[in-house]
Amino acid sequence: MSESDAGFQTIPAVDLAIYRLDETKDVFTPAVAVYPDLVARNIDRALAFAKGHPERLRPHVKTHKTIQIVQMELERGIIRHKCATLAEAEMLIRAGVKDILVAYPVVGPNANRIATIAQTFPDVRFSALVDHPTSLIHLNAACRKANTKLDVMVDLDGGMGRTGIAMGPAAIELYRSIHEASHLKVDGFQLYDGNVEEPDPIKRQEIVDDHRERFISFIRDVEKTGLVVPRIVVAGTGTFPLWLKWADEEPRLEASPGTFVFSDWNYHCRFPDVEMVPAAVALTRVVSKPRPGRLTCDLGHKAVAADPLAAKRVHFLNLSSWEFVRQSEEHLVVDTPDADLFEPGDMLYAIPYHICPTCALHRELLVVRDGRVIDRWGVVSRDR
Ligand SMILES: Cc1ncc(COP(=O)(O)O)c(C=O)c1O
Repeated sequence: MSESDAGFQTIPAVDLAIYRLDETKDVFTPAVAVYPDLVARNIDRALAFAKGHPERLRPHVKTHKTIQIVQMELERGIIRHKCATLAEAEMLIRAGVKDILVAYPVVGPNANRIATIAQTFPDVRFSALVDHPTSLIHLNAACRKANTKLDVMVDLDGGMGRTGIAMGPAAIELYRSIHEASHLKVDGFQLYDGNVEEPDPIKRQEIVDDHRERFISFIRDVEKTGLVVPRIVVAGTGTFPLWLKWADEEPRLEASPGTFVFSDWNYHCRFPDVEMVPAAVALTRVVSKPRPGRLTCDLGHKAVAADPLAAKRVHFLNLSSWEFVRQSEEHLVVDTPDADLFEPGDMLYAIPYHICPTCALHRELLVVRDGRVIDRWGVVSRDR
């Protein structure tokens, strides 16, 4: 491996034999292959962290955006789900989910859209998030217009500085405004801590413990005002096992990992203690060998997420080492001592560093079992 993974601990072996296709002649590239047995294993692993209590999990659908994986979770009793977009919410409804948290600020026309969806599906329990008084006023107006009532959580800033309001008097005031709004009901708090990237599990636990202590004291302050806190939604893949240690004491706790179903090379290396196995692989072919020692493959940034650093697009399973040269829309160029082993048309297997946006670049995922493509799953909610 040529890229620097300094700071990462030893990781469970990920062997090409698990992912290799026996027959590739009908497989168009670039593509994303998913391995349902590994997905099932990752979901079961999450359930093990939840000590077999599916109600302690609220997986985020944004990673895979497929009905089939939602159904695998439903079959295991995981009935609470989280999403970011209203297209994902609509897909969750189609999949039969009855408890949906839209964990993204709904503003502008989306306030009317969520109110209409909630009104159309009275048997589905929706919650929305707010982190600002103006969004709350708009959401309440939209629900009044649609003649529906919506559960609303306050989004707390877990240190990421992306969305959310700091724990403190203004957050309590916002929560009280939900209670006082004619068409909204208080539903608790979300604290997402995706900024916690500490690879050492002991230090990561200390960070989570610190967040938890501050959270407990904040919730006590909220309850002192007489307001109820029905649920507490926390965490992503890197921290959810650590938060779940609190679940025996705190029955309102729901942990909301997303990436865990597929994992990716970043999370797999960074959080080896979470023991999620990569369950999605980018399939790409050598398309050119422009000079000695160089391979160009069809894995441009229209086929694999471009948001990690350039050298960290993918981890190749069948190259012993490589140096990233460049990536353009349809090309990924690497220098590798293995170049002579490959001819144009040969397949490379590459685990993306960031799988969630990678999936969203593909209309469907190839479902692979025992070395064969057995199905295709639509990435249904990639269309907003
Ligand atoms: C609000 C929220 N909750 C949960 C998650 C899932 O986190 P992860 O992908 O780290 O598992 C995300 C990811 O972006 C998120 O934004």
